[in-house]
Amino acid sequence: MSKNNAEFFKEKNEWSVIKDKLLGGYLKPYFQKLLMSGHPIYYVDCFAGKGRFQDGKDGSPLIALKIRDECLKASRIARRPSSIQTCFIEKTHGDELIKNIQLLFPTNNTYEVIKGKYEDNIEPCLADKKDYNVFLYVDPYGIKSLSTARLDRFKEFGFGTFEMLINFNSFGFFRNACKALKVNYRNDIEGLDELVEYEPTKFTASEQSQRMLTDIVGGEYWKPIIMRYNNGEIDGYQAELEISLGYKQYLNKLYKYVLNMPIRLKHSQRPKYRMMHVSNHEDGCFLMAQNMLKRKEELFINIQQGGQISLFDVSDTEFTSVEGDTVSIYEIENNVYSQITKLTRPIRLTSFIASFINTYGLICEFKIIYNALEKLEQSGIIRIERQPSHTPTRRISRFWEEDRDKTITIWRLK
Ligand SMILES: C[S@@+](CC[C@H](N)C(=O)[O-])C[C@H]1O[C@@H](n2cnc3c(N)ncnc32)[C@H](O)[C@@H]1O
Repeated sequence: MSKNNAEFFKEKNEWSVIKDKLLGGYLKPYFQKLLMSGHPIYYVDCFAGKGRFQDGKDGSPLIALKIRDECLKASRIARRPSSIQTCFIEKTHGDELIKNIQLLFPTNNTYEVIKGKYEDNIEPCLADKKDYNVFLYVDPYGIKSLSTARLDRFKEFGFGTFEMLINFNSFGFFRNACKALKVNYRNDIEGLDELVEYEPTKFTASEQSQRMLTDIVGGEYWKPIIMRYNNGEIDGYQAELEISLGYKQYLNKLYKYVLNMPIRLKHSQRPKYRMMHVSNHEDGCFLMAQNMLKRKEELFINIQQGGQISLFDVSDTEFTSVEGDTVSIYEIENNVYSQITKLTRPIRLTSFIASFINTYGLICEFKIIYNALEKLEQSGIIRIERQPSHTPTRRISRFWEEDRDKTITIWRLK
């Protein structure tokens, strides 16, 4: 059975540790980068929790506030706390959250806690944030609050940049989708009830539940997937994968870049749940992908029991994608070429990588993509232009990282 929500904050579990690493690892470069943008940042933890677990570990609000203060302190330009505004929405544990924040930041009141529901409060919070850099962390217990109609409306607020990190409980969706369509979910997903973490909503075999599910993932595409599962054409893992891909495609209609990250905990090729990163700017997609790659050891190896899965590096010519598929170097080179053929004008490297990952997912390290680009340059298919073109010692530049002072532009020649 799904666990009781009351136990969630007793002890931080492995799932939460992974989410923290993804969030914490991203927020630092995100804050640092956007502090330079000149526009304020508005960070909202939409399902904030208590701030602290009973075992003393920080919850997501304290993690974010610590990183915020660190970034403000380290910023070369004097920054006011209002450069990064933080808001925490919490339905049940608002008082405890305030207490826990005050314990750690007794003199700092530059945060807002909203005691209420995300559904009721998020739009009023965002309505006056035109031109802000907005980041939403969406970590609900189940799937019920993830209405896509709301996401659609966010687009109208005119933010400078917009990003979301969503914990999408895809197995929870699968199980509820089966219930709603009266499909017997056979036990071919190991420990399905364990995977579906905390789930307060009861979905039933009813039209109302079907409508709710359609609203959650932005379309009815989930229904034929469940029916194919019911007919035995696909297994439950394939169904979960297809639902997640459908959800990604829906999000991509609203936002330019979507990263779909399966999270694994144990020595198994099967994902356990998914984090979706949504952004309307290439830098966000690039930074999050980089965050994942940098932390892959922690995220995917150390935490997995036995630590035996190696993400990406099977050999020099074969890699394992985040979905657990084997991808050959030839496939990657073909994909890079195919992405190049779509270019109608020169493109900056960061945009190219973000589009590539958005299309193909995190199938390999960036350096493999860079090697493929170099090959295309050698074949005269593209030209790679770096600024500055030479190093201070007058050597030809070879860098592969763009920053404020360094740019890389790809020109398609054929
Ligand atoms: C998975 S926990 C969040 C954990 C938190 N991210 C952390 O790392 O500590 C989900 C939280 O959302 C709260 N919650 C549930 N429904 C909500 C809603 N509709 N709006 C806002 N908060 C809600 C729950 O009380 C719970 O504290």
